[in-house]
Amino acid sequence: MNELNTTIEQINCTLQERVAAAEHAREVEELRIALLGKSGSITMLFTALKELSPEDKRHYGPVLNELKNRAEKTLSDAVMQLVVKKAQAAINKERQFDVTASTNKQPQGHLHPYSQFIEELEDIFISMGYEVLDGPELETDFYNFGALNIPADHPARDMYDTFWVDKPDMLLRTHTSTTQIRAMQTRELPIAGIAPGRTYRHEAVDASHDFMFMQCEGFFIDKGVNLSHLFGTAQTFLKTLFKKDSLDIRIRPGFFPFVEPGFEIDMRCQFCTTGCSVCKQTTWMEVFPGGMIHPNVLRAGGIDPEVYSGFAFGFGLSRLVMLKYGIDDIRYLYGGKLKFLDQF
Ligand code: PHE
Repeated sequence: MNELNTTIEQINCTLQERVAAAEHAREVEELRIALLGKSGSITMLFTALKELSPEDKRHYGPVLNELKNRAEKTLSDAVMQLVVKKAQAAINKERQFDVTASTNKQPQGHLHPYSQFIEELEDIFISMGYEVLDGPELETDFYNFGALNIPADHPARDMYDTFWVDKPDMLLRTHTSTTQIRAMQTRELPIAGIAPGRTYRHEAVDASHDFMFMQCEGFFIDKGVNLSHLFGTAQTFLKTLFKKDSLDIRIRPGFFPFVEPGFEIDMRCQFCTTGCSVCKQTTWMEVFPGGMIHPNVLRAGGIDPEVYSGFAFGFGLSRLVMLKYGIDDIRYLYGGKLKFLDQF
């Protein structure tokens, strides 16, 4: 019977060791099956008991029962402890979660403020029925000047410090008004179009001037177009852009050879009510020039000015972007500094 005693002792040892080492309830369950399952080692001892003499049965019966009870209790206690341990670990993990810890965030790109702004203004004009048009930056004298009622030697050419290129009659466009003529030549009437894009002038660079800047041209040509259409369009555009329910505009006469009459359209300063450095103490900000397209310009584009009329305007995008985002130096816009760009 020594053999049986040894087996019982071995089972006890295995039970203690494996329970102590268990990290998951699954391991304890495996142990339970190995000891108390159908062919578990404790179950087998009960089968062996039947073969013993009545005397031994009397002795080992209670011993085996005690072994079985202890094993059951040890195993169920162990499962309970492991479940509690796991729950506690989850709670601790949550408590130690540091909401301020930084992650290895991947830097994300976005559109340049210019592009964001152009998309916004295109949406506004498209909602008013305009088309978005385009034109080349390298232009001919004809589209930039001649067709716009600025013949060679006309003093108005002095308004534009032109970059001529070493090809006869070719230049970098000084304004987007070139797109008016191209649209007249290629489109059916009526035409309602805007053309945002780059323009170039040989300017000394400072906080508000750059040799390359963006403009947006706009025009509407149809029968019976008049000045009230121009002013209404300007006001609607500015109101929508600056998200105002009402917005005052002011109109002053202005000279451009390709419009007659010509105007400067101003809006109320967005930064003050009594005068500040942005509006040069006037409470008005010059935003865009415009006027009725000159009959000579319509003629150059192949349109009969006796039948059709149109208005045109052309504003500096750089200036409006700067006003909208509060940027005080034009050079930031194309400087490519990430610290600047990341703000948008
Ligand atoms: N093209 C003019 C400029 O750049 C602006 C303008 C456009 C004025 C259309 C009137 C009408 O100076």
